[in-house]
Amino acid sequence: MKKDLLIIDNITKRFGGLLANQNISFSIDEGEIIGLIGPNGAGKSTLFNCISCYYNSNSGKILFNGTDISRKTPEAICQMGIGRTFQLVRIFKEMTVLENIMIGAFLKHAKQGDATAKAEETANLFGFTEKLSLEAGSLTISDQKRLEVARAFATEPKILLLDEMMAGLNIQEVRETTDLILKLRGMGLTLVLVEHVMEGIMPIANRVIVLDYGLKIAEGTPEEVVNNEKVIEAYFGKKYHAKRRGNTAPLQ
Ligand SMILES: Nc1ncnc2c1ncn2[C@@H]1O[C@H](COP(=O)(O)OP(=O)(O)OP(=O)(O)O)[C@@H](O)[C@H]1O
Ligand SMILES: [Mg+2]
Repeated sequence: MKKDLLIIDNITKRFGGLLANQNISFSIDEGEIIGLIGPNGAGKSTLFNCISCYYNSNSGKILFNGTDISRKTPEAICQMGIGRTFQLVRIFKEMTVLENIMIGAFLKHAKQGDATAKAEETANLFGFTEKLSLEAGSLTISDQKRLEVARAFATEPKILLLDEMMAGLNIQEVRETTDLILKLRGMGLTLVLVEHVMEGIMPIANRVIVLDYGLKIAEGTPEEVVNNEKVIEAYFGKKYHAKRRGNTAPLQ
């Protein structure tokens, strides 16, 4: 397992006068499941957008496999092996399940036959074999979120950044999602999960990083983080219950 597969080094991102990410640093080893948590507006999605180069950070570096990727394009990032999903699902609702996954598969497989084979294999892994020809927009929210992960997976990433994959899911679906994440990790993937659903993230994360008002306020094992005074004050009203501060953040 490679140490420091992804290094976030002093990343700052400003929107006008607002510091959405402020000197954030941490690193991720290959094969880890990292939880990225914090109150609404803490800067979690912004950090994903900086890592995947949807935004250019104002300062700092992001190293992937030793290469500085902080000024690349989102397409180049994906090609290099960082896949992502969005907080609000961005699937193509009028296309079928198979076609959606094929969009991901085309990144590494230019021939239609190869992309179809990759997409079918991915669909099987994600439990979509019986739903290949359904319109994506007709799926449940849980299936739509999983489909977006399947599309990202079909690009053959080394790291997957998943933004609130468990939001709005019922307990059974959260359990299925954590099983899926563990299965992906078992296949050699490294995962970073932005989550408010503590019951989903805490049992599976190797480490948890906590942001608040753009700052990293804690980093540690799930147990260390839930017992950290600063984190309890900023985020946990009661154990495992996210204290919501009123959502001012545009959903990315
Ligand atoms: N494109 C943008 N333009 C201006 N401000 C933005 C933009 N994107 C995010 N922000 C601001 O940056 C801060 C961090 O937002 P971000 O979406 O990263 O938070 P978050 O931790 O993902 O929150 P949530 O849990 O609600 O999704 C917020 O104050 C938000 O309003
Ligand atoms: Mg967010």
